[in-house]
Amino acid sequence: MRRTNLSKLIVALLAVVMCMACADVPSGENYSFKDGMIVFDEPARVAGQESMLGFAAEPIPNVRVGFIGLGMRGPGAVNRFTHIEGVEIKGLCDLEQSNVSKCQAMLERASKPKAEEYVGEEAYKELCERDDVDLIYIATDWIHHVPIALYAMEHGKHVAIEVPAATSVEECWQLVDTSERTRRHCMMLENCVYDFFELTCLNMAQQGVFGEILHAEGAYIHNLEPYWDSYHSNWRLDFNQKHRGDVYATHGFGPVCQALNIHRGNRLTYLVCMDTKSVNGLELAKERMGVQEFANADHTTTLVKTELGQTIEIQHNVYTPRPYNRLYQLTGTKGFANKYPIQGFTFTEGMLKEGVLPEGARLNPHGFASDEIEAAALAAYKHPIHQEIEEKAKQVGGHGGMDFVMDYRLIYCLQNGLPLDQDVYDAAEWSCIGELSATSAKHNSMPVAVPDFTRGEWNKLQGLKFHTK
Ligand SMILES: NC(=O)c1ccc[n+]([C@@H]2O[C@H](COP(=O)([O-])OP(=O)(O)OC[C@H]3O[C@@H](n4cnc5c(N)ncnc54)[C@H](O)[C@@H]3O)[C@@H](O)[C@H]2O)c1
Repeated sequence: MRRTNLSKLIVALLAVVMCMACADVPSGENYSFKDGMIVFDEPARVAGQESMLGFAAEPIPNVRVGFIGLGMRGPGAVNRFTHIEGVEIKGLCDLEQSNVSKCQAMLERASKPKAEEYVGEEAYKELCERDDVDLIYIATDWIHHVPIALYAMEHGKHVAIEVPAATSVEECWQLVDTSERTRRHCMMLENCVYDFFELTCLNMAQQGVFGEILHAEGAYIHNLEPYWDSYHSNWRLDFNQKHRGDVYATHGFGPVCQALNIHRGNRLTYLVCMDTKSVNGLELAKERMGVQEFANADHTTTLVKTELGQTIEIQHNVYTPRPYNRLYQLTGTKGFANKYPIQGFTFTEGMLKEGVLPEGARLNPHGFASDEIEAAALAAYKHPIHQEIEEKAKQVGGHGGMDFVMDYRLIYCLQNGLPLDQDVYDAAEWSCIGELSATSAKHNSMPVAVPDFTRGEWNKLQGLKFHTK
């Protein structure tokens, strides 16, 4: 009897000690604490579902498109598509008739056939259900991206989704699983990877000009003060008011992930995030929303580690007065590239292709290369995609032409039955940073594992390829 009481006491004491030990261990609805790291649940792949790595659909010579979301961003895409051969714009959809009408007028001015109009919160469903549409192009606010994309894929459509494709880890898995199950492309419309400096640097990196890349930086630093009034129903401030972390990481993160071959022989392993208090964001929310709290920091910094031992730093700040900046910086063992705030390179002996260095030019391993050397290198390493389409892209425009390069490549790959430049795993990896960074910041910058959306196949493809026929 006495022994039983003693054992009960020991069990009770052990339970108390275990509870005390657990008190600081973070766990959420969809994550737990393992080996010093916060780990999000990773759903197993359902039987019969296959990877989309290297996926190519049947060629679609004439791509029939439906556009959903025609606010500030969408109409530019409609206009760009009127300049691409072998495209038919079948449907235009928005919450506001006036936005649809403006795009319809744009088609008329371009002497294109009238598109069917869809207006209202659920009108996108009718457009997705049509059997004469191949691609749904989504430029709505962030919270509508995934529900619309899933519905479109379920109805047999390829999807292209504005950035960020998804707002949570759960939504990232939904995109991956639905794309894998329906065998439909799901591409995020990350345009900055096609910018002229970034794509040239990618070409240099792939040809080894920087040696081994060890560290990379990217950012979205853009004071959105002039735009807050223009978002439909205040969706963006409303989202930021509710969400901590780097909620708009992809412009800074995408281009550097490409240079580091993420899920093409390398992978993201874990991240830590630290953020400032919210001052300007909170002020905005008080003035515009009449609320006393604001989750998003004025400045958020995230550090991500890769399997191959590199680090990536990304920053987000849409609140304070300072010049626009996406950083885009590559630090390699043999060279350096930087876009913002000052564009330039550091090159070292023997790393540039023969004939690139102007005669008599000298390299400085602790300074920027001269303007003459930079111009020669930019010309010598111009990416084949830019060689092909730069002139037209600059005429049509969209952030100086990069938006047109993106749309052109999407349609070119669909028309020719090629794998797309960005796959669903890119969309998930670049978008998941929002919730992962928020979770790290919430737990005093604790490391958070980055889910492997390829489910172990990150080493199957070697290096990023832009496919051509
Ligand atoms: N890649 C870039 O450079 C870039 C630049 C700007 C915006 N964006 C992205 O584009 C998207 C749109 O941003 P924006 O600035 O145009 O915002 P916006 O508020 O001007 O436009 C959003 C539009 O979506 C429509 N919409 C909302 N719910 C809808 C629904 N259920 N069905 C149909 N339409 C719906 C609204 O009516 C509105 O016209 C966002 O994802 C944003 O991040 C990307």
